[in-house]
Amino acid sequence: MIKKILVIGATGAQGSTVVRALVHDKKYEVVIFTRNLSSEHAQELLSLPGVSAFQGNTLNEKDIYAAFRQVDGVYCNLDGFAIGEINETYWGIRTFEIAIETGIKHYVWGSLDYLVKKGGYNSKYRCGHYDAKGRVADFILQNKTKTMKVSVLTSGPYMEMLFDGVFVPKLQEDGTLIYAHPIGKGHVPMVHLEDIGKYARWIFDHPQKSDGLDLEVATEHVGWKNLVDCVQRVTGKKAVFIDLSLQDFFAKSPMPKDAPAAWAQTPDAKVTTGQTYWENFSGWWSAWHDDIVTRDYEMLDNILPDRVRSLEEWMRKVKYDGAFRPVLKDLVDRRKAGIR
Ligand SMILES: NC(=O)c1ccc[n+]([C@@H]2O[C@H](COP(=O)([O-])OP(=O)(O)OC[C@H]3O[C@@H](n4cnc5c(N)ncnc54)[C@H](OP(=O)(O)O)[C@@H]3O)[C@@H](O)[C@H]2O)c1
Repeated sequence: MIKKILVIGATGAQGSTVVRALVHDKKYEVVIFTRNLSSEHAQELLSLPGVSAFQGNTLNEKDIYAAFRQVDGVYCNLDGFAIGEINETYWGIRTFEIAIETGIKHYVWGSLDYLVKKGGYNSKYRCGHYDAKGRVADFILQNKTKTMKVSVLTSGPYMEMLFDGVFVPKLQEDGTLIYAHPIGKGHVPMVHLEDIGKYARWIFDHPQKSDGLDLEVATEHVGWKNLVDCVQRVTGKKAVFIDLSLQDFFAKSPMPKDAPAAWAQTPDAKVTTGQTYWENFSGWWSAWHDDIVTRDYEMLDNILPDRVRSLEEWMRKVKYDGAFRPVLKDLVDRRKAGIR
């Protein structure tokens, strides 16, 4: 039975929910993998029972070997926004190979939908930070060995991006919340962060059922009419949806046209290979606009009967009011460093 699990990306929005779900009842011990042991995020996790840390970088084989030798399970969420699509594709595969070599018993890959593949290899849906993870997911499921259980947990945009990040509304002087996005009549398969942790826990608790599985999760496919209706019902505030073209959306974006898709790397990073931020997120919005991603909600109800099932339920649970709350560590770190 798996006892000690390394979580890569542990200090992040996703990884921290996984850590909490694994240790809350002391069933597992967790080693968090972080570049900086003394960050607030790392220290907060280290105050939980059963949590220890390994300081390292996911772009360094020696660190990966040393960390994997301390544990028997791994949850790996590489940060595509920091390392970029090309690095994520390579390191995703290499990390899996090292897991087999070091005798890991259960390897879980935190993934995202392989959008360009799901879109029939139409580059309209090319999205580096999704395609890298999806490509790796395909590779590791096809190359699994008898010695190591392998599961994929495919999530999607966090519902919490309504607090911080891409779905945040613009507040007008009269209090109206404006949701201006290039979504048309499409839907985003948003997922509540806490439930990602619970799905990861289910995977480690059920190795026979989860071995070889790509568990594709979401809370609800959210359309923007439903979004503004929910906001009005839950907050009592006026909410308006403005359907933008991709061009108009990016013209208003704080990210400059030449910003790299790996926007969380060094502040002055330039695109050398791979997509720009605008190109990457054009593919992303197009995938939601054209509804190319599905989920089996009946299966998710069976796996996690207490999952949050709708946007409205989530808004009531988290007391959503349209105001900003920090979510992504990368963004918190950039703001601290004075970078937009
Ligand atoms: N935003 C969304 O809606 C969403 C949804 C699903 C999946 N994702 C994916 O999740 C990933 C980001 O994770 P997150 O959402 O949890 O973001 P986050 O809150 O910004 O966390 C980023 C995490 O990545 C770690 N990290 C970055 N570079 C690293 C490196 N070189 N070596 C070791 N650790 C490194 C950070 O650890 P330290 O700083 O402690 O080293 C931190 O734990 C991205 O690939 C993104 O595509 C995002």
